[in-house]
Formats: sequence, structure tokens, C-alpha cells
Amino acid sequence: MDITINKLESLYIHFPFCRHLCNYCDFYKKVPKGNDLNEFHTFFDEMVSKHKEFLLENHYEMDTLDTLYIGGGTPSLWGKAGAEYLRQLFLREQITLSESCEFTLEVNPGTWTEESITAWKELGVSRFSLGIQSLRADYLKILDRVHNVEDVFDTLTYFNKIGAAFSVDFMLGLPWSVSRERDILSELKEILSFEPEHLSLYILTAKGGYPHKKNLPEEDFLEEEYLKVAEYLKSIGYKHYEVSNFAKPGKESRHNLNYWKTSSVGALGPSAVGFLSDAKKRYKWKTSSAEFALEELDSEAMALERLYLGLRVDSGIEKSDHFSDEEKVALVPVFQRWQAEGLAKDSDDRVKLTSKGLLVLDGLVQQLFSYQK
Ligand SMILES: C[S@@+](CC[C@H](N)C(=O)[O-])C[C@H]1O[C@@H](n2cnc3c(N)ncnc32)[C@H](O)[C@@H]1O
Ligand code: SF4
Repeated sequence: MDITINKLESLYIHFPFCRHLCNYCDFYKKVPKGNDLNEFHTFFDEMVSKHKEFLLENHYEMDTLDTLYIGGGTPSLWGKAGAEYLRQLFLREQITLSESCEFTLEVNPGTWTEESITAWKELGVSRFSLGIQSLRADYLKILDRVHNVEDVFDTLTYFNKIGAAFSVDFMLGLPWSVSRERDILSELKEILSFEPEHLSLYILTAKGGYPHKKNLPEEDFLEEEYLKVAEYLKSIGYKHYEVSNFAKPGKESRHNLNYWKTSSVGALGPSAVGFLSDAKKRYKWKTSSAEFALEELDSEAMALERLYLGLRVDSGIEKSDHFSDEEKVALVPVFQRWQAEGLAKDSDDRVKLTSKGLLVLDGLVQQLFSYQK
């Protein structure tokens, strides 16, 4: 019997070290000390061989990557040593990058040198994602970040000088936004003069124990701030193509779109999450051993996942992909109401959320769950 081998063409790598641990951040990371980097490389090698076995068992193989994303943590801290480690790993594992590979490296201001950026570019990095968060010194302090505004400008100036493609991360909904009169548009306008091709704008989410929880802005403020930014970015030619993401046409992150389209995306590194779409398996790497927790999705779970992720992106969902003819009839008033409230654009067979709808995505998806096949 012939077995089809699926090609895994997207890979996420998690680099788990940061100079300092920002007090709002829930991602897996630690401050490196002593021999941590070498130990990480040994740990990573082990994950690579476990991953290869897992892929084989599930009839997948990874040889040519079309998207590669190194996130963290602070991957720019991995530096020249990281680029060299991965170069050797790719050689050993016979992993190559496609000619048009979208290879992203997350960079924190103040954690790179010209030499390290050159090494990453030589490895094949084609775009950088710069974690700015705010351009105001007081907010960087409130956010417990260790970079300063000058570090941000140094990095943007250097990206422009070398003609690098880059995205920027910004945060909304910061503590004391009202009393300190945060003017998000004036911060963004300064950044936009460096012409990022892509922007990610995250609303600060704070888990229990966050020291400024009491000072976070109210829902109404969040809505106003988010919509103000979305409308402005759209008015100057950026597409609001996903809940938190904006891009110049054609510059959407192909890597992240793969997640949202429920395509296969491999993962390596502590806490990294991968997904094999044909096998309907999701795996999450443990942080203390080269093992992962496996989740097998049944058809119902896959259907909910496709609905939730489909509505996150600007192409929206094709109704017949998700609902039977009877369900579609039952849903007519729901989609009409969404359209009337400016939450969605509803056409014959497609529904797409507007910026206003994306802001309340979770609630809207809940309304649909009860109708799904
Ligand atoms: C995990 S970080 C990794 C990149 C880099 N270390 C940085 O901080 O920019 C990726 C993005 O997630 C954002 N992020 C982390 N914790 C968050 C939270 N609680 N709410 C909203 N965004 C958050 C960061 O601010 C950053 O823009
Ligand atoms: S630098 Fe980024 S990953 Fe590290 S703690 Fe801060 S937000 Fe989290």
C-alpha cells in the first residue's frame, strides 16, 4: 500500500531566554546564566531527533521550509552563536530554506549588534519583528521593559539603512492610559515614518498578580483605542488582516496565516506548539524535558477550531464550509444582525468580520458554536 508523505513546510522555533522578565508576560522564558546556552543547544538537539521520529510516525517529513519563525523569549539574544548553531543543524538534518522562504526573527531593541544581524541575514532571515510596545519612556518603565526609546530608534534606523523588511509589535490598553493621556496615534506615526511593512498591536492581557491590574483602562476605552488605530492604519494603506495584525498588501505574515488556516506548522523549543493538520494532532513541548504533550483533535474539535480561526482573518469563512443548508437558514438573522451592528460583512456565502467585529470575536464565535454541524 502506498503511503503519502506530507511535507512539513513551516516551522516555529522558541528561544526561551530574555535579559529581564517583563512583569506582564506569560510566555515561557528565563534569564540565561552560566552554561545555559550550551545546555539549551543539547536540549534542542534532543528535541530535533524526537521531532523527526514523531513526524515519520505520522507520515510527515521536513526538508524544505517555506516559512520559519524564531520567537521567544528574545531570539535576538541568541546572536551570532544562534545563527551558527542553526546553520550546522540545518546542514546535519538536511533542512533547506525555499528560495522565497519567509524567515522571521523576533528582535528586542538593545539586544543586537551589526555583526549578529549580518549573521542572521546570512542564514536566511528575510524579515525582523521588533518588540517596541510603546515609544514613551514612562510607558516602557510601567511595562517593565529594559529597552529605552533611543534603542528603538537605533534599531529602526539600522533596519532602514540595510533595507530590511520588518514588522513592529505595539501594545494597547496600557495602565493609566487615560490619566497619562497616552496618544497612541502620535507614537505610531513616529514609527510609521520608518515604513514597517507589518504591525502587530496587542491589547495588554493581565493575569492575576499583575501589579497594575487596578489601573488598566475600561472596556470602552479599549474599544475606542483599538478602533482608532485600526481605522487610521487602514486609511494609510495597511490591511487589517487579522485581529491583532496589519500589513501592507502582500506583506501579511505567511507563517502566521498558516496557523489561522489550520495548515501544518511544526514546532521546536520549550513550550512551542506545533500542529499536523492531516494527522489532526497538536503537540506542545515540555519545558524541562525533550518531550511533548499530544492532543488529538476529533472532527468536532477541528470544526470548531476552523470556525474560530477562520473568523480571525479578513477573508472570513465560507458558510458552506461550516454549516449545513438548514443551519445556514437558521443563521440568516444572526449574520444580518452582525451586519446591521457593523460587526461583519455578510454576503451570499461568506461572512467576514470588520475591525469592530474582530474586537469581540470570542463572543461572536460563541453565538455560532451552537449552530455548527
Ligand atoms: C512574547 S513576545 C516575544 C518578543 C519579544 N521578546 C518582545 O517582548 O517584544 C511577543 C509579543 O507578545 C507580547 N506580549 C507578551 N505578553 C503579553 C500580554 N500579557 N498581553 C499582550 N501582549 C503580550 C509582547 O509584548 C510582544 O509584543
Ligand atoms: S522581553 Fe518579550 S518574551 Fe521576554 S519577558 Fe518581555 S515580553 Fe516576555
